[in-house]
Amino acid sequence: MKVNKAVFPAAGLGTRLLPITKAIPKEMLILVDKPLIQYGVEECIESDIQDIIIITGRGKTAIEDYFDRSIEHEVLLKEKGKHDLLKSVNDIASMINFSYTRQKEALGLGHAILCAQNLIGDEPFSIILSDDIIDAKVPVMKQMIEIYKKYRYSILAVQKVKDEDISKYGIIKGIEIEKGIYKIEDLVEKPGLEEAPSNLAIIGRYILTPRIFDFLKETKPGKGGEIQLTDAIKSLLSIQPVYALEFEGTRYDGGNKLELLEAQITFGLKNEELKKGLLNFIQNINL
Ligand code: UTP
Repeated sequence: MKVNKAVFPAAGLGTRLLPITKAIPKEMLILVDKPLIQYGVEECIESDIQDIIIITGRGKTAIEDYFDRSIEHEVLLKEKGKHDLLKSVNDIASMINFSYTRQKEALGLGHAILCAQNLIGDEPFSIILSDDIIDAKVPVMKQMIEIYKKYRYSILAVQKVKDEDISKYGIIKGIEIEKGIYKIEDLVEKPGLEEAPSNLAIIGRYILTPRIFDFLKETKPGKGGEIQLTDAIKSLLSIQPVYALEFEGTRYDGGNKLELLEAQITFGLKNEELKKGLLNFIQNINL
C-alpha cells in the first residue's frame, strides 16, 4: 500500500528555544524566507504525499492560520497586481489536504502520534518532525519511500552522530543488509555511551506500519517521563521487521540555537537572490 499520509507532531513545548516559544510555535520560526514547517510540507509534496495531519497543542493556532487561505491578502495582492506573491500565498494550501488534531497534554512524541490514529486508519504512514531540518538533494522522505517500496515494512531515518551526542537520541542496533540500509535488531532511547549499541541515531523521519498503534496504546512513560515512540517501535520489532536508512543529506536540529543559525546560513547561501549579499556580509563582519 502506498504511503499517502504524513503526521507532523507539533505539540511540543519547545523549551530549548524559550522565550520565543512562549508565543510563537517552534515550527513557525523562519528559516530564510519560510517557516520551518513549510520545508517539511514541501518534502511531502516532492514525495507524492497528499494528506498531512498536524498534531497541535495550546498556542499553536498560527500553524493552522498559515496553511489556511487569507482572503484579505489575496484581495490586496490582486488589486496591486502582485501575482508572484499571490501564488506564494496560495500554492501550498491548494496542493495538500490538511487535518488537525490536538494533543491535550505534551506527554511525549509517542503519545502525539497516537492522537492521529483515527485520522490514519489502517495504512502505512510517515512522520516528519519539522524541526529536524534536512538539506538533501533528494528529499529524505522520498529516499525512504523508495526503500519502503522494496521492503514493505517500517523504515527509520538514521544518521551517525558523535559520541558526545549519543545520549540525546534513540540509537539502533542493526545489521547492514545493503549499503546504508540496516535491519534493526534493537533500539535504545537516549543511552549512555557505554550502553549504546552503535552511533546510528534516529532522526525525525519515519515510515511506520499501522500495527505501531497497538504498541503505542500499551507504551508506558519512559525516559524523561514521556511516552516514547522509540519504545513502541522496539515492541513492534517483536512482530515485524523494521529497517533503517542512513539517508543522504545534512541535518540541522532546529530546536538547537546554534544549529538553527547554521541552517539559516547554509540555506541563505543556497538562495540565489540572497547568496551574494550574504557572502559579502559574512566576509566583512566586523567583530
Ligand atoms: P522535541 O523534544 O524536539 O520538541 O520533540 P519539544 O519538546 O518541543 O522541544 P524541547 O526539547 O522542549 O526544546 C520532537 C517533536 O515531537 C513533538 C515536538 O513538537 C517536536 O516536533 N512533540 C513532542 C509533540 O508533538 N508532543 C509531545 O508531547 C512531545
